[in-house]
Amino acid sequence: MDKFVIEGGTPLQGIIPTSGSKNSSLPALAAALLTAEPVVLHRVPRVRDIRTMERLLVDIGSSIDVEGETVTLKTPAIVSPEAPYELVKTMRASSLVLGPLVARAGRARVSLPGGCAIGSRPINFHLSGLERLGAVISQEHGYIEAAAPKGLKGARVSFDRITVTGTEDILMAAVLAEGETTIENAAREPEVSDLADLLTKMGAKIQGAGTSTITVQGVSSLEGATHEIIADRIEAGTFVMAAAITNGDVRITGCRPDHLGAMIVKLQEAGVDLTQPDDTTLVVKPSGSLKPVDMTTEEYPGFATDLQAQYMALMTQAEGISLVTETIFENRFMHVSELARMGATIRIDGRRAIVAGRSKLTGAGVIASDLRASASLVMAALAAKGQTVIDRVYHIDRGYEKIEAKLAAVGANIQRVE
Ligand code: EPU
Repeated sequence: MDKFVIEGGTPLQGIIPTSGSKNSSLPALAAALLTAEPVVLHRVPRVRDIRTMERLLVDIGSSIDVEGETVTLKTPAIVSPEAPYELVKTMRASSLVLGPLVARAGRARVSLPGGCAIGSRPINFHLSGLERLGAVISQEHGYIEAAAPKGLKGARVSFDRITVTGTEDILMAAVLAEGETTIENAAREPEVSDLADLLTKMGAKIQGAGTSTITVQGVSSLEGATHEIIADRIEAGTFVMAAAITNGDVRITGCRPDHLGAMIVKLQEAGVDLTQPDDTTLVVKPSGSLKPVDMTTEEYPGFATDLQAQYMALMTQAEGISLVTETIFENRFMHVSELARMGATIRIDGRRAIVAGRSKLTGAGVIASDLRASASLVMAALAAKGQTVIDRVYHIDRGYEKIEAKLAAVGANIQRVE
């Protein structure tokens, strides 16, 4: 298993380019199952979760050609409408094939995800949504079977709680359903809008993506399309905070500041010198001492849960006490005990973490527990005095493209060792 060895204490300086969004690419790849024609996706990051999704799609019947960051998919027929446990347990987003498979093949068999490091993460809303569209759902041997041999029928789907991949899954099912579907309390994340843009290019009739009510007029078939994935807002946000925690001077290019509004406001409140010279660039300048600012995660357009761990690492360097409240996942504080090993003072009280800064961070041996927790450890290591060894960096490889190369290019002393 690979490790990162990081020697901290150097302010980051230079330019970091942003990759395409992992969480936008995953549903876009699954959407290719909806047509027999080729779907060409540009700016797909070469990260492990994408490779896992590609493996799953090949098993299902797609042929996939990868050239740099362009992925061409063709699915003449659904050979095996199944997502096995071996893949689903490593990547929960595998459940994104459920909607497209039932819509195109009338049948899907998908393993239940089980628990994970950040919470229980059930898929009950995906299933009740599909039931509303007429699928018959059964469960046996850890697998969900969904069947709609005569096709899906448009209906009103109202989520009890906002779910990102749930919204994407039902959207992909609804585009081939007969008649009109309304998705209420839909996720408004930019990744949902990006998927709707791709589906529209494929011939789907969708209105309201990006708002909490999405309306779909079903069509009988979809065609191929070419689409460029949006910039990864979580990657860009992580680099902004990595620059800030090292008191660095960094330009993050090719990003979408308009997708990071809540984070930009929080960091500016905390005293980070963060500006947006144009629509695709964010600039962090050295800013001296940081103020503690409370933060609560929310669905988009609120502060993203995927940036919570990184924000907490940053707040360990603020002068005073801040409260970080996690409302999306019940167990997303795995980074706290590792940050504490590096000298942070953080107490957990239910869904709230009380961070007492400013802590003097020192290098230590730590373990990455999930993707974003790992990113917070990399940040803390960059700010710490001495050497940090981060074990199990396969978690970070799931979602950050060439992170050590990007950080090394702006002066970080980071090495991958086997
Ligand atoms: N939930 C249910 N039942 C469901 C679906 C969700 O109870 O059927 C609950 C979840 O347990 C959670 C909340 O609803 O408490 C929200 O979960 P959501 O479904 O929105 O999460 P997701 O779609 O599984 C996506 C991202 C996550 C990101 C969350 C929240 C992808 C592939 N994953 O997950 O990204 O944290 O939305 O924004 O888009 C990451 O990239 O590190 C990551 C975990």
